[in-house]
Amino acid sequence: MMNDLNKQLLDKYVSSIDQQLLKFTENKPELHGVVCQAMEYSLMAGGKRLRPVLCLEFYRMCGGKDIDSILDVACAVELIHTFSLIHDDLPCMDNDDFRRGKPSCHKAFPENIALLAGDALNTLAFEVISNAALEGRVSAQSAVMLISVLSKGVGVDGMIGGQVIDLMCEDKDIDIDTLNKLQSLKTGALIESACVMGVILSGTFEKIPDAAEYASALGRAFQIVDDLLDVNGSFEELGKPIGSDKEQNKSTYVSLLGETRSRQIAAQLTMQALGHLSKFENNQFLSELTEDMLNRRK
Ligand code: IPE
Ligand code: IPE
Ligand code: MG
Ligand code: MG
Ligand code: MG
Repeated sequence: MMNDLNKQLLDKYVSSIDQQLLKFTENKPELHGVVCQAMEYSLMAGGKRLRPVLCLEFYRMCGGKDIDSILDVACAVELIHTFSLIHDDLPCMDNDDFRRGKPSCHKAFPENIALLAGDALNTLAFEVISNAALEGRVSAQSAVMLISVLSKGVGVDGMIGGQVIDLMCEDKDIDIDTLNKLQSLKTGALIESACVMGVILSGTFEKIPDAAEYASALGRAFQIVDDLLDVNGSFEELGKPIGSDKEQNKSTYVSLLGETRSRQIAAQLTMQALGHLSKFENNQFLSELTEDMLNRRK
């Protein structure tokens, strides 16, 4: 459990992130502003903001001192994450009508606008990183590294690839290696991008492999807990439908190994993540957050 001081730090992070996210869509064009409304609707519906927090925290642990100057870059990961959620909920994907406690984007807006809002969030993330370089807040070299890491985390060898495997594994009996690949890509890849981007922003490039190893273990634990919550959580806690995986006949940790074994593996992966984290100084906040993610109810 997080101590009070760390809880305050988390609250501070989340409120800075929320303020920054609002700024991204504040100017709405007259004719096609509806897409910005849809982007803002999904961005501001809540969410734990885990990915930008990870980015900011790796930046801080690695000696970064000017959070205000890179906050928008950290939030680029949340833009991508929100795009992935909007598309994940679409009728042609998981067909879920609620997200973050509110009607899914395609239920609050026409489906075509929700689709385009996801697309626009995807490109906005890279626009934001480029702007930080053009404004001299990050170096050109760092910006290229950030764009490289984030685009890989999103693409065929990242989140999108994982979503494809997820779809291909509906109604199938798959082995554990395939499931691990599915989960590492669909969820782990973006979490890894977030952590590595924080390290890049701090300029301590030699720490990238340690951050990536931590993120890979956390990402797997995080998705296993998500699978567990789909079975034993509640709509009130999670803000998204329960039983969605079963309804879609998804291959998940719970469907493959059952709840007890899934929980054990999530706990082991969390221990591994904490081991990798111990290589970083000032890791107390993130150690507590990592443990809290294992025991989360939302
Ligand atoms: C949900 O992510 C989708 C997964 C990759 C498991 P989160 O559990 O981080 O969702 P929010 O951002 O808090 O809504
Ligand atoms: C989604 O996994 C991962 C993404 C890339 C969005 P899920 O489909 O299990 O996520 P939830 O449960 O809908 O949030
Ligand atoms: Mg899905
Ligand atoms: Mg889903
Ligand atoms: Mg899920």
